[in-house]
Amino acid sequence: MKATAVARANIALAKYWGKSDDALNLPAVPSVSLTLDPLVTETTVELDEGLDDDVFELDGQPAKDGETKRVRALLDEVRALAGVTTRARVTSRNRFPTAAGLASSASGFAALAGAASAAVGLDDSAAVLSARARRASASAARSIFGGVVELPAGVPGDDALAARPIAAADHWDLRVVVAITASGRKSIGSRDAMGESRRSSPYYGAWVEHAATSTRAICDALLARDFAALAPLVEQSFLAMHAVGMAGIPSVLYWQPGSVAAIRTIQGLRADGLDVCATMDAGPHVKAVCTAAAAPSVREALAATDGVLDTLEARIGPGLEVTRG
Ligand code: DP6
Repeated sequence: MKATAVARANIALAKYWGKSDDALNLPAVPSVSLTLDPLVTETTVELDEGLDDDVFELDGQPAKDGETKRVRALLDEVRALAGVTTRARVTSRNRFPTAAGLASSASGFAALAGAASAAVGLDDSAAVLSARARRASASAARSIFGGVVELPAGVPGDDALAARPIAAADHWDLRVVVAITASGRKSIGSRDAMGESRRSSPYYGAWVEHAATSTRAICDALLARDFAALAPLVEQSFLAMHAVGMAGIPSVLYWQPGSVAAIRTIQGLRADGLDVCATMDAGPHVKAVCTAAAAPSVREALAATDGVLDTLEARIGPGLEVTRG
């Protein structure tokens, strides 16, 4: 009645932005990501007859109500399937700075899906765990798997939608150098921001229409290990996603001066012949995706860029690991 799971953050190269079904949390567009090591969340779920309600502790502190609600929804789902009513104590730890803006919700809900299922005695496949993590947070569906991972767009009503691995972690030794460009919490979370984009951005329709072509091309470049083809496509995906948000009312503008400076550093290094390109998620930090050979120069150049407060480096890592007991 106790299990611990470890899952890693992921970085989307083809971005998920927008939902086709809010209730089932289905993405309107396909996305492709790299699972990142050592950006790990470790979560333990223990059923406890002595509890009146679920308890969720995150990084040593009681979690906020909104977070606990999303955790409880996932626990309720597995309890119903296993025919169990016992409440659970959930303890979760991010082994990387949450300030790095590397969606800890992705690793967090992937680890929770794995630990909750094992704690109640279910023997779910990775696809079932991925679909369950997706309902909690769509990017979490990808963190169930290691390496290069695709989450297809969801057809409204298709609650089985899961991510799938398309290449193993050792397929290509890519690195991700994160340039941290602000401290403190971001202005608006991805869920609310992508909702605003759908409601009010005139570019939303074009974004959804273009996503299948763009994602296919990114997958092809990844599978062929073709950095020259990959770089402009990855930058187009994040720039289009941010343009959609910026053009909404209210406008969602995550960028800080350091974000622009970091993008210019990365594009300058690429013009000088290095295999590196930029991406950003729903926050001000810039992530440089590069080959292992380019990583030391990329990190050095980003650390010396105005407005970059800190850097950290990750490599491609494995998927979910679950231990019972
Ligand atoms: C910008 O997975 O956090 O990181 O499904 O509403 O929980 P919800 O959204 P979430 O969105 C992630 C958006 C992104 C791009 C990506 O990871 O693909």
